[in-house]
Amino acid sequence: MTPSIYLAPFQGITGVTFRNIYSKHFQGVDKLFTPFFTTINNELKLPTRKQAELGCSSENGVEVVPQILSKDADEIICFALFCEKQGFKELNWNLGCPYPMVANKKRGSGMLPYPEMAEEILQKVMAETAIRFSVKCRLGYFSPDEIFNLIPIFNQYKISELTIHARIGKQLYSGEPDLETFRKALSLLTVPVVYNGDIFAINDFERVSDCFPTINTWMIGRGLLSDPFLPASIKGLQLPSDRQSAIRQFTNELYLAYRKQLNDNPAVLGILKEYWHYLAESFDNPHKVFKKLKKVKRFDEFEDEIDSVFREYEWVGSEKLVKRSQN
Ligand SMILES: Cc1cc2nc3c(=O)[nH]c(=O)nc-3n(C[C@H](O)[C@H](O)[C@H](O)COP(=O)(O)O)c2cc1C
Repeated sequence: MTPSIYLAPFQGITGVTFRNIYSKHFQGVDKLFTPFFTTINNELKLPTRKQAELGCSSENGVEVVPQILSKDADEIICFALFCEKQGFKELNWNLGCPYPMVANKKRGSGMLPYPEMAEEILQKVMAETAIRFSVKCRLGYFSPDEIFNLIPIFNQYKISELTIHARIGKQLYSGEPDLETFRKALSLLTVPVVYNGDIFAINDFERVSDCFPTINTWMIGRGLLSDPFLPASIKGLQLPSDRQSAIRQFTNELYLAYRKQLNDNPAVLGILKEYWHYLAESFDNPHKVFKKLKKVKRFDEFEDEIDSVFREYEWVGSEKLVKRSQN
């Protein structure tokens, strides 16, 4: 069966412009997740900027799923009603964010040690909303065992899907995903489960899909940002013969779209540098590629450096990781 692949939410990257341009240029993704929204202030009318970020419930035929980070049931309900009105079919609740500023307030993965809090919120939200309600979490915040107290709650409230990033919050991104705890959790869950964590290349996908044959849905973050062809490669779809040019076209269009969206505000360069931090990984010399772009301060400088990146370096994609692991 063809796997389903989701673009992971990324604060600062997977905004409306990225979702639109990415899905126009690349095949293989089945859902696009927004970065998390916060402080909705229980008002059904969102500020204009947030509304613009939620203008389209699909991009080039691919469903968009908004995400909320909150520990306030009323706030979640309000956002859910707004999303419903905008035509979205699903709302995702972030129980995975590991950053201390968030987690110390029992939000994101910081709520995982407090299952009673999650239960109270789910009970209220499920009673008052009709939109599909999914959750993205980690295995725990302090300990991977925390998920076992949450599983009966997720099962009871029949959340529409549970994406698990197989790490704990305290780890941030260090170490390896804990596949054994994920396996145990999977065996106890009766809701659809999505695997997330460290799929950087096709062989990583093959490894985890061999480990978990009952899973057919995979969320990919950094691997997809580094190699936008990865979902299509995993699905065995045809890739363009000249991938370097395809990437060039994509990045040019992304650049112009951000300039338009932000009225040529120099903040565009910050956003693009953040994205190129990942994309550089798929060139033959990531360090040098990123070094070229890191310090630019003006649009003309950025354009010149991009020209030289495509002139001097070769797009090798995530296949280089496969070759490296075979050697
Ligand atoms: C810079 C950054 C921003 C992120 N923003 C979000 C976010 O807004 N919501 C969320 O649920 N996860 C967020 N994540 C986590 C990713 O969605 C994903 O779960 C994580 O990167 C693991 O998947 P990967 O190994 O495929 O990258 C973020 C991660 C990073 C590194």
